[in-house]
Amino acid sequence: MGVFASVNGNVVPGAEARVSVLDNGFTFGDAVYETLRTYAGRPFHLDRHLERLRASAARLGFAPPFGDEVFARRLGELLARAGNEESYIRIILTRGEGDISYRFDRVKGPTLVMVVKPFEPPPERDYAEGIAVVIASVRRNHPRALDPAIKSNNLLNNILAVREGQAQGAAETLLLNDLGEVAEGASSNVFVVKGGRATTPPLAAGILSGITRRLVLDLCRELGVPAREETLLVADLFTADEVFITSTTKEAAPVRTIDGKPVASGRPGPVHRRILQAYREYTRRHAR
Ligand SMILES: Cc1ncc(COP(=O)(O)O)c(C=O)c1O
Repeated sequence: MGVFASVNGNVVPGAEARVSVLDNGFTFGDAVYETLRTYAGRPFHLDRHLERLRASAARLGFAPPFGDEVFARRLGELLARAGNEESYIRIILTRGEGDISYRFDRVKGPTLVMVVKPFEPPPERDYAEGIAVVIASVRRNHPRALDPAIKSNNLLNNILAVREGQAQGAAETLLLNDLGEVAEGASSNVFVVKGGRATTPPLAAGILSGITRRLVLDLCRELGVPAREETLLVADLFTADEVFITSTTKEAAPVRTIDGKPVASGRPGPVHRRILQAYREYTRRHAR
């Protein structure tokens, strides 16, 4: 059990895994990634994550070296070697090994790294009581500068935001876009519930197309909860009946306070509860 890594197919204990210091992932942050988790030991929606990984890499002009079946086989071997009950999975694809220059023609790649470690679920209290979030002063990258739809290892925008949030004891930090509209969390998407209707910012707000976000929108339809993708302003957060965030690792986590002010009653709400239940049922079905 523990942390194991596969570097271009070589599986080793995590602490022994090595990538060249000349790798563009290291020298330029020239890389894309995905975060997955397992349910009942099986990677959850590997297909959707690989589709997004390919799309991210394509935006940067490189591509994974093989098809989904090979990813699935290699990841399966890595998970088997690690033997964790449930694993957190990070897939990193870099452009490859270069010479610390913008001479992309000299880069030998790509480099594919997969790391698995024991999955640590968020405390159940987060779901029972809700989490504290804050709104960062730093704005989400403008899509015309570095499009948040590209899930890249260039995470400094997120790190600046998270550091602000952590300094205030927040479990997640929300970012606004350049126009001051609600964009997304530093590692999550955001939903607001008002009058029984769920709203999440559109992709055009300049956000990552979250796999959990998409699933929650689909589950809302199944549950008969009206859901839409529409611009959200900060005022919508503070006048909401419920706010929750979504991500692979957090599923759907209710928000108790924003910038120290309680969301509505300060308790998780009924719409969130139904969605979380439906999400967990979905993951159980996946696990069978
Ligand atoms: C910036 C950002 N937005 C949203 C998400 C949620 O995406 P997903 O539901 O695919 O995990 C993440 C996940 O890490 C993220 O980093």
